[in-house]
Amino acid sequence: MDVREALYTTRAMRRVKPDPVPEEIQLRILDAAIRAPSGGNSQGWRFLIVDDPEQVAKIGALYSDCIDMLWETVYKEQVAQASTGETPQAQQFSRIINSVTWAQKNFATYPLLLFAFDKFDTTGGSIFPAVWSAMLAARADGVGSSLTSVLLFKNDETLDVLDVPTDQGWRMACCVPMGYPLGKWATASRLPAHEVSYRNTWGTPLGAEINEPLWP
Ligand SMILES: Cc1cc2nc3c(=O)[nH]c(=O)nc-3n(C[C@H](O)[C@H](O)[C@H](O)COP(=O)(O)O)c2cc1C
Repeated sequence: MDVREALYTTRAMRRVKPDPVPEEIQLRILDAAIRAPSGGNSQGWRFLIVDDPEQVAKIGALYSDCIDMLWETVYKEQVAQASTGETPQAQQFSRIINSVTWAQKNFATYPLLLFAFDKFDTTGGSIFPAVWSAMLAARADGVGSSLTSVLLFKNDETLDVLDVPTDQGWRMACCVPMGYPLGKWATASRLPAHEVSYRNTWGTPLGAEINEPLWP
């Protein structure tokens, strides 16, 4: 697959089929992840893949509680606005709520979860390049993925289910459910680059507008 196709179309694919992701593809995903950069090439990471349905169901129960907590705390205002459906932002958030609610109801059917852990990462930035590489590698094999950090609300309980040692400094960064998509791949919709980028000094316009995605 063209690298640009993967970059433009790797979306939060929460609705996936229960069909298993073959081990050969799981290994390609992990092998791509560990090629990613890390500060000082420290590679202070561990990946834990979960494909045992009993384990997935246990994580799913925690995920469901965490999503309830998320709507009641961090996103309380957006949830209230979404129900009005008045602005484009409210409509967009409403779509996210629907998609996340699907994940909440169907979590136990995810065929594969990828957990990423880091250690001694003072910048906090050394794990997500690897996670994104894993998601791109999955995309290249037709596997959808969606990153979630919400399990941090139930960090201790999650580490307990996964049997993660608590005395070695490993920190859960995120969980990425994966599977074959129910929906279609599409180019990610974002604020255009010229609205969020400057040239030479802060606030100086880029000097060009990109009103349509530059791929395909
Ligand atoms: C650091 C990080 C944390 C995220 N946490 C969550 C999460 O807890 N739950 C969730 O459903 N999505 C989570 N996401 C996914 C975002 O919601 C998603 O990337 C964004 O809405 C764009 O979706 P799209 O690519 O389908 O347009 C997270 C993404 C990142 C990068």
